[in-house]
Amino acid sequence: MNADDLVGELAGRHIVLGLSGGAACFKAAEFCRALQRAGATVQVVMTEAACQFITPVAMQALSGRPVYTSQWDARPGNNMAHINLSREADAIVVAPASADFIAQLAQGRASELLPLMCLARPAERVPLLLAPAMNREMWAHPATQRNVAQVQEDGATVLGVAHGDQACGEFGDGRMLEADELVEEVIAFFTPKSLLGQRVLVTAGPTFEAIDPVRGITNHSSGKMGFAIARAAQEAGAQVTLVAGPVHLATPRGVNRIDVVSAREMHEVTVESAQAAHVFIATAAVADWRPAVEAEHKIKKDGSGAVPELAFVENPDILSEVAHGQRAQAGELYCVGFAAESQDLVANAQAKRARKGVPLLVGNLGPATFGRDDNALVLVDDEGVTELPHASKRRLAQQLVAEIARRVSGASA
Ligand code: C5P
Repeated sequence: MNADDLVGELAGRHIVLGLSGGAACFKAAEFCRALQRAGATVQVVMTEAACQFITPVAMQALSGRPVYTSQWDARPGNNMAHINLSREADAIVVAPASADFIAQLAQGRASELLPLMCLARPAERVPLLLAPAMNREMWAHPATQRNVAQVQEDGATVLGVAHGDQACGEFGDGRMLEADELVEEVIAFFTPKSLLGQRVLVTAGPTFEAIDPVRGITNHSSGKMGFAIARAAQEAGAQVTLVAGPVHLATPRGVNRIDVVSAREMHEVTVESAQAAHVFIATAAVADWRPAVEAEHKIKKDGSGAVPELAFVENPDILSEVAHGQRAQAGELYCVGFAAESQDLVANAQAKRARKGVPLLVGNLGPATFGRDDNALVLVDDEGVTELPHASKRRLAQQLVAEIARRVSGASA
């Protein structure tokens, strides 16, 4: 994820960032900055153990606010930092959350300010998010797993853990997520769950149709729109499968990605995945034709000036096939098509909607969007034409997901 994508997404949110003791405290410093870049204000609260790893001075400098470490802090007029801090927060995020800290929470202990504040928070209005960080043996220990299950049952949300190198030199589960990953998790947490329980299938990117082992035919689709839609759907609570042609994009967190190369591969994987999906969003720029034969070896120049003759055959139309399939026809699968046009957007989108047999067709201007980070969309369906004006693909994906969720929930209501 490009860090710029997160700018402004937490505008207006006030996050209380708790640090308990662990080597991952240095990442909390980055996390604090990343939260601010995303638009949040951050109030830091640290345990005594956390102060062994990073100083309150550093966290104050980064957050721009005095750090709280003690429940006996006399600064608040009422001398009740645990009450004041927790009531101001839109969420409390503890990163890192140590094994000992999670154990304290599981038992409802309040031995110092941070666990006291977590206990004292109005749980129905101030969510608690925990980013565990510990050695893999500590993470795997039945006591820790029991405590993690308990705090989740008590309403906390656990972010991670990641797998990889650990500060102790070992390798395994228990690493804290990286700062930007944590910010993405916090953004996802605040996203309304308009697609909760829905399985969403997205195709994205171009396809590559081989001529010989080294050459092929493809197009300029970057996959950005489809990846942004997959991410927005995941954040909206859907279980997302993303069938991606050859693109250089990071997989959105929590999304199940299946990489394919040719239209035929995309067809096979998509038709199979559509069996279990509730929503299918076809953003991929699938090649309409492929070379009739793929040469086994590289086609050579023979010096005579003769050029190779290329014959083409048509590729399967994935969207049309899925939209005409039994599940879509029975109303169990809602299909959304895309049209990349170079002119007459609305008329072409309307015609394409009818031809493909989909309830919703999204039009955009191909040359104006391929590879770019922004776009403008036109939605064509039974309701008529809805314009989503020029914006980032991220923002448009969020709006489109909301539009789809409204139509899907309307259909099942
Ligand atoms: O008219 P066209 O085929 O370009 O329509 C584009 C829409 O159809 C897009 O949603 C695209 O993902 C989908 N499509 C497909 N399989 C093809 C061609 C297009 O799923 N072979």
